[in-house]
Amino acid sequence: MTGDLEKRIVEEVVRLVPAESEEELTNFISARPQAKSQGETISFRIEGYKVAIYKYEDLITKERLLEIWLYDGEEPIGYVRIDPNWEGPIDDGKKRWELTRAYIRPKYRMRNLSHLLIKITLALAKKAKAFSVTAYPRHVAMLVALIEEGFLTQEGNYDYTLRRIFRQGRRWYHKDQNARRLYYAQEFRPFIQEGGFIMERRLKKKTLWDYLLERM
Ligand SMILES: CC(C)(COP(=O)(O)OP(=O)(O)OC[C@H]1O[C@@H](n2cnc3c(N)ncnc32)[C@H](O)[C@@H]1OP(=O)(O)O)[C@@H](O)C(=O)NCCC(=O)NCCS
Repeated sequence: MTGDLEKRIVEEVVRLVPAESEEELTNFISARPQAKSQGETISFRIEGYKVAIYKYEDLITKERLLEIWLYDGEEPIGYVRIDPNWEGPIDDGKKRWELTRAYIRPKYRMRNLSHLLIKITLALAKKAKAFSVTAYPRHVAMLVALIEEGFLTQEGNYDYTLRRIFRQGRRWYHKDQNARRLYYAQEFRPFIQEGGFIMERRLKKKTLWDYLLERM
């Protein structure tokens, strides 16, 4: 998928989802059918791709999340599930969105489509004027894509090492995609296995005031 097409898809999703107002967004999500029903919902087509907007309702917590599906014609490629009201371990009153799950069917993997899913999430959170987007990587490819999209670990402890591995992969194997992926799989897998780190990408630039408050 070209960068231009990616941009057009992101813009159209942002136009269709009323993210500015929390109340409107909650009502919008509630009014969508669940993806498993594949019921009639808001959708659009661009150059052979279809995008459809659904709701995901957690069976146990009853939380209602936004689920955006991408299709190749009528064939499902994958989805991104987004939580516009993420409640993390830190309760500092800041509005954070979460990229809860990204999924690409095996047949469509290795085409860099995870970036589109991340970009959709970032752009919607931006429209909502959220402070940041968080994500919990459970797959090497997702960790790589999150690093490339500017996510940092919330604790800050691994960032230097993660970025070093990412850059080395780019530099050493820039022409050999398979070797690069193998290198990333080897180097990043321990981080995924060890598990338990949240990544975050801030949407607003830090102001001097934020900086001073943090220092207090
Ligand atoms: C996570 C997922 C959505 C990523 O999509 P994908 O199509 O596999 O990955 P992409 O083609 O977008 O690759 C992104 C980057 O990850 C790296 N990568 C991809 N597959 C990889 C693999 N199997 N091992 C190591 N690195 C890999 C590549 O370096 C790639 O970037 P580059 O080629 O520019 O260097 C997909 O693998 C998936 O659905 N996994 C199962 C569900 C899951 O675990 N989701 C994550 C929960 S948040």
